[in-house]
Order: sequence, then C-alpha cells, then structure tokens
Amino acid sequence: MIKKLFTVLALVASSAAMAAGGHTVHLDKAPIDLTDKESLQRGARMFQNYCLGCHQMQYQRYSRTFRDLGIPDDVGMATLGFTANKVGDHIKNAAPKADLANWFGAAPPDLTNVARVRGPDWIYTYLRTFYADPSRPFGVNNEVFPLVGMPHVLQELQGIPYKATETRLVDGVPTEVDVGIKTDGSGELSTEEYDRAVADLVNYLEYVGEPSKLESRSLGIKVLIFLGIFFIFAFLLKKEYWRDVH
Ligand code: HEC
Repeated sequence: MIKKLFTVLALVASSAAMAAGGHTVHLDKAPIDLTDKESLQRGARMFQNYCLGCHQMQYQRYSRTFRDLGIPDDVGMATLGFTANKVGDHIKNAAPKADLANWFGAAPPDLTNVARVRGPDWIYTYLRTFYADPSRPFGVNNEVFPLVGMPHVLQELQGIPYKATETRLVDGVPTEVDVGIKTDGSGELSTEEYDRAVADLVNYLEYVGEPSKLESRSLGIKVLIFLGIFFIFAFLLKKEYWRDVH
C-alpha cells in the first residue's frame, strides 16, 4: 500500500512539473477529462479517421484501446480496426515512411507518446491554430509550429482558417492589428463543435500516452477513501483510550 501511495505521489509531482514547462506562444488549456469514456471513444474515432493515414501509435495495441474505452472487441474491430488483422495488433499504418518524409519535408512522428512530450495544451492549440499561408507548400502555416510540414488535415471540419486583422486606431493612427485566427465558415463544424472534437482527440492522445493513468487515478481515490475511513477508527480509538484518563 505504501509503495502504491508513493507511486500516486510521484505521478502528481511529475504532472505538476510537466505543467510548469515554459512556452513562448500562448497555449489554450485543453478541456480534457480522462474519466469521460464517450469523449475518449470519439477521440479514438477521430484518430483512426484523420491521423492514422500518416501517424502510427506503434506502442499501443487495438485490444488495449478497446478494453480501456469499454468497446467490445468485435465492435472495435469493425468500426476502428482499419489496420488490424488481429485485435492484439499495434495501431500501425502501412504508409511508405521514406515517401512521407519526402512529400512533407519531415516524417510524421509516432504519436503514442506525443501528449507526454508536447503536453495536451500544446496539441490542443496546435490543431486549432493552422492558418492559410500561400507561401507554404500546402498553403498553411501554424502558430505554435511555424513552417510545419503537416497539412491541415482537419480543414473539412474547421473550414479554411486565416489570420484575421482589424483596422484600429493606435495612437490616433489607423493600424492593422492581429485579432486571432478565424475561419471562412466552410467547415462542417461550428467553432465550438470543432474545439470539442479537437478536445476529444487530445483526450485520447493523453490517455494513450499513459494508459495506466486511468487506473492510477482510481487508485488515488481509493487511497483517499481508505485514509478517510482509517481516520474515523483512529479517532474513535483515541476517544476510547482517553476516556478512563479523564
Ligand atoms: C498527410 C499526413 C498527415 C496526417 C494525416 C496527419 N499528420 Fe500530423 N504530422 C505530419 C507531418 C509530416 C508532421 C511533421 C511536421 C514537421 O516536422 O514539420 C506531423 C506532425 C504532427 C505533430 C507534431 C509532433 C511533434 O511533436 O513534432 C502532431 C502533434 C501531429 N502531427 C498530430 C496529428 C494529428 C492529431 C493528426 C490527425 C488529426 C495528424 N497529425 C494527421 C503529417 C500528417
């Protein structure tokens, strides 16, 4: 029990240390919730549909995703197991790696651990800050990943994003100022729906980065309940001992 308690404490400390990492660009907080199974399931579907073409999760097995997300194996294989022969296969693609690196100027990295490396807020912001830039090979650039090689693969959902400016008076002089990224409204989703869809995807990436987090979190709660009950008995015992002294 002591060992497990230390594991929980170490987890808390390490996630606090990760959260403290410095960034130059402002990052939006990813509204993720690892206890929300439906969000994780929607995120898994997003990943399989929009990311697996280029990126793998070579350290995650389909069976693990299905089990942790509460998806029966046969349903999972039929709806999500695009690249699986067996349910125990890793989430890989058959993309020609060397060609991808040539086409995009950089190889698409494996995404199993990306949430641990970059942090969920970075990915949440990254997928929401592509913007039109005709000088780039795929016509888009990115706010947190300048000169990125990845195309804006979620454009059909978001619409065409662009850096919006407004003319405002600065010291009495009309000046063009940046007012953030807007879209042309041609996407299938509204801005709120798009943010929600990206949050689901980031939620799933966060889970895959550390699948045992789902377990350690519930273990932490059990430890707290145990301590609470233990306290009641310790308190009653103390009263019992001191009763005769007074
Ligand atoms: C058409 C191929 C392609 C698809 C599809 C694609 N990506 Fe990428 N992605 C890339 C490439 C290429 C890079 C490397 C960019 C670079 O280094 O300039 C990249 C980089 C990334 C990175 C940055 C990784 C890092 O730490 O440097 C993240 C995060 C990412 N992709 C997430 C996603 C997600 C999530 C999806 C699905 C919504 C997705 N990608 C779909 C090609 C793709």
